[in-house]
Amino acid sequence: MNLIESIIERAKADKQRIVLPEGTERRTLKAADQLIRDGVAEIILLGNPQEIDQLAKEMDLENLERATIINPKNHDKKEAYTDLLMELRKKKGMTPEEAASLVEDPLYLACLMIKSGDADGEIAGAQNTTGDVLRPALQIIKTSPGVKVVSGAFIMFTQTPQYGENGTLIFADCAVMPNPNAQELASIALASAQTARSLVGVEPKVAMLSFSTKGSAEHEMIDKVREATRIAKEINPSLQIDGELQADAALVPSVGARKAPGSTIAGKANVLVFPTLESGNIAYKLVQRLGNAEAVGPVLQGMAAPVNDLSRGCSVDDIYKMVAIAANQSIGMKQNK
Ligand code: ACO
Repeated sequence: MNLIESIIERAKADKQRIVLPEGTERRTLKAADQLIRDGVAEIILLGNPQEIDQLAKEMDLENLERATIINPKNHDKKEAYTDLLMELRKKKGMTPEEAASLVEDPLYLACLMIKSGDADGEIAGAQNTTGDVLRPALQIIKTSPGVKVVSGAFIMFTQTPQYGENGTLIFADCAVMPNPNAQELASIALASAQTARSLVGVEPKVAMLSFSTKGSAEHEMIDKVREATRIAKEINPSLQIDGELQADAALVPSVGARKAPGSTIAGKANVLVFPTLESGNIAYKLVQRLGNAEAVGPVLQGMAAPVNDLSRGCSVDDIYKMVAIAANQSIGMKQNK
């Protein structure tokens, strides 16, 4: 059984309630139908019930009868969620009128449902931008206790079994923090190690990437990576982490041995932490397109409950997998509580 298959099986064994705010989007509906058919999750669709019903008939999606459908404009808990949103955001200057309007936005409603314990996780982004999916989650669900920043990791299934864990690697941050400082980068490294352990089931070997290996160049951008490595080690002394390393030194044993002799990570890394969002986002897309790797994610790490973003170019299969991943994250979080 491969990793994705085992993630799906784990989700089936302990069904979580996953809310899909883009409930009238065709790929989302098709994925929802298959997820219900296969028993992967309990699906909550947000959207106009008549429209969803019409689409289900048109697309011949019989299993959607078993989804919970909530109309964001008109449902029993609207007032309770409006009060919760006001409570959470009044210090930020939110007015009752703004709260009453935002609560009808499916992306806000999904987060309020999770915050209230009425859903376990959310997947969106087939129609909305990353920023629009993340903003309500950052405002309402917020980070897990002790975590400073939310970041986005990709599980990269590459065609090169000699690297990472039989070709599988974690790349982060590829989705959220444009320019993390050293403290934030350390937090991204710790969260990525946790993702490697809990979702991929491997012992993390974290490489803090830069354009320098162990002092081969000097620049303030390199200083940031060195400082982040030091902070991450200080917070978790048992974590296997090293930096700064160039990507080839992190991955290729012969290069690692030459450029970073004595490093326990060089040549063996399975978690690559990028110094900025630019580098992480560009790297994962290049490896995906030029290297023909499968990129699963972004898996958001550090959020108090699972909210995962999709690419607007996503397929039905991508949505299906991301729901299973969110369900696994939720199961893991409940076990850790
Ligand atoms: N971790 C935790 N909290 C955060 C983070 C973070 N990384 N970023 C912002 N926040 C919090 C802020 O503290 C703030 O909380 P508050 O309102 O309670 O004080 C709230 O979120 C909003 O913060 P802003 O800075 O006003 O948020 P902004 O509107 O700038 O949006 C966002 C944040 C959406 C994450 C932004 O940084 C962004 O757009 N990032 C890039 C996303 C992107 O485009 N990624 C690339 C595409 S994804 C892909 O290709 C797979």
